[in-house]
Amino acid sequence: MVETVITIRRARKVDAEEIASVHDASWRDAYRGMIPGRELEKMIARRGPNWWASAIERGSRLLVLDFNDAIVGYVSYGRNRVPSLPFRGEIFELYLEPEYQGLGFGRRLFEAARDDLASHGYPTFLVWALGENDRALTFYERLGGRMVRHAQERFGDEQRERVAFGFI
Ligand SMILES: CC(C)(COP(=O)(O)OP(=O)(O)OC[C@H]1O[C@@H](n2cnc3c(N)ncnc32)[C@H](O)[C@@H]1OP(=O)(O)O)[C@@H](O)C(=O)NCCC(=O)NCCS
Repeated sequence: MVETVITIRRARKVDAEEIASVHDASWRDAYRGMIPGRELEKMIARRGPNWWASAIERGSRLLVLDFNDAIVGYVSYGRNRVPSLPFRGEIFELYLEPEYQGLGFGRRLFEAARDDLASHGYPTFLVWALGENDRALTFYERLGGRMVRHAQERFGDEQRERVAFGFI
């Protein structure tokens, strides 16, 4: 019998290369046609294995989803970066390899981050998504988020709407 082993755990420095690869694949899949191409390429290029290794070394809160010894998703989180919004924590990024989406893993990563935030004194938190990212908007609504803020984000010469979901 072939057994599938799925683990959510803190990222280790040796994971940097695999996380960079998940980041690359999931950002291309999620944002192609949404973020101007040249800007998207720059954003991906900045986040190579060295960037992830130093984030892990700095102690950033970063969990990975390990599926049979391969990293297929990650979530990063910490303190809310917009103090005018009354939420203590923030989920910065939550991404899965395209082939692993729609199987319940996003919810599991989200819940693991939420539990860790709560246990470190951040029981309320928010998460930002691009307004055109329907999949993410539906996902955060299903998980009980409430839209609390609209803002604009600049990508080169262009602007895109982004929205914040609050969780209390
Ligand atoms: C958004 C993302 C993290 C969601 O993870 P996922 O594993 O695909 O979602 P799950 O399978 O855990 O689904 C959780 C809930 O959201 C709903 N949902 C997820 N994707 C959906 C979609 N495309 N359409 C409708 N509902 C959807 C599910 O029905 C499920 O609801 P239920 O549990 O009440 O039945 C994942 O699809 C992803 O990595 N997308 C690309 C990157 C991205 O946009 N990240 C967010 C950036 S802010």
